[in-house]
Amino acid sequence: MMNEQIVVGCGYVGTRLACQYREQGEAVTGIVRSDAGVARLEQLGIKGLRYDLAAGNIGDLGLAEARVFHFAPPPGSGVQDTRTRHLVDVFERYGHPRRVVYISTTGVYGDCAGAWIDETHPVAPVAARSQRRLDAEETLRRWSAASGRDLVILRVAGIYGPDRLPLERLRAGAPMVRPEDSPYTNRIHVDDLVAACIAAMERAPSGALYNACDGHPSTMTDYFLDVAAAAGLPSPPLIGLEEAADRLSEGMLSYLSESRRLRNDRLREGLGVVFRYPSLAEGLRGIF
Ligand SMILES: NC(=O)c1ccc[n+]([C@@H]2O[C@H](COP(=O)([O-])OP(=O)(O)OC[C@H]3O[C@@H](n4cnc5c(N)ncnc54)[C@H](OP(=O)(O)O)[C@@H]3O)[C@@H](O)[C@H]2O)c1
Repeated sequence: MMNEQIVVGCGYVGTRLACQYREQGEAVTGIVRSDAGVARLEQLGIKGLRYDLAAGNIGDLGLAEARVFHFAPPPGSGVQDTRTRHLVDVFERYGHPRRVVYISTTGVYGDCAGAWIDETHPVAPVAARSQRRLDAEETLRRWSAASGRDLVILRVAGIYGPDRLPLERLRAGAPMVRPEDSPYTNRIHVDDLVAACIAAMERAPSGALYNACDGHPSTMTDYFLDVAAAAGLPSPPLIGLEEAADRLSEGMLSYLSESRRLRNDRLREGLGVVFRYPSLAEGLRGIF
């Protein structure tokens, strides 16, 4: 039987992944929220379907026995991921997929005061967006246990790649905090994330959990300085924490309040994912 891949939330990461399956001659469908999303996929030769997971009572998405990549983000408020709950309702009503690969975030670990951590570290989400992610993980784990179907979760760090760099922010001269006040952040190049997702679908044991990051964290400030240098843009002005509280967005301040350094040994050694871009320096060289 031919494998059928369905990417729920087929945006930046999903479209690249779908193109890889299409190039291998495999059936792949992308589910998006907007007509513009469908048009974008169809231009690339990928079958696109429009469904809004925010709505309850979604119809049959054709997911029974399929291999599902769930990349749709949770809603923007609350502490539950109602979209994932609706998706599981669809599984229960119209038939279960064979396997789900879910993109969660490393935010579920909460603030670790800059410590090195791996997948055995307990979760302690602080930001509401991370609580919603944990809710999605738990919803899917309950589904997998009840249905007996496969689930693999990737906790993904900051995704960067072509067209996914903070160039507008740098061009606008937005400030960043001084290095001594800056937390550690973790990243992964989109191409390596796609490779990790495919490996998770093809060969990870069910129930497995992986940190998806390149294993080379740096401070948030170094990230902006390195991107600016690679793009030939001026470095952002550096400010103290007190000034940052007035001048940076709530979202950025929330990211600045958590610091952790993530190991990716399980992804590299356990799942055999070979990184094309093992650090930001290589990733930026590939982009510019
Ligand atoms: N950015 C990061 O650094 C980061 C880090 C960790 C995890 N993640 C997560 O990784 C996942 C993939 O990221 P990405 O960059 O590929 O995201 P993206 O480009 O924003 O794509 C999200 C896709 O989900 C679709 N979508 C959104 N709401 C939906 C809804 N209610 N119902 C159905 N489809 C919906 C969008 O449809 P349209 O195309 O129609 O808009 C889009 O195709 C997301 O869950 C993201 O939150 C991101």
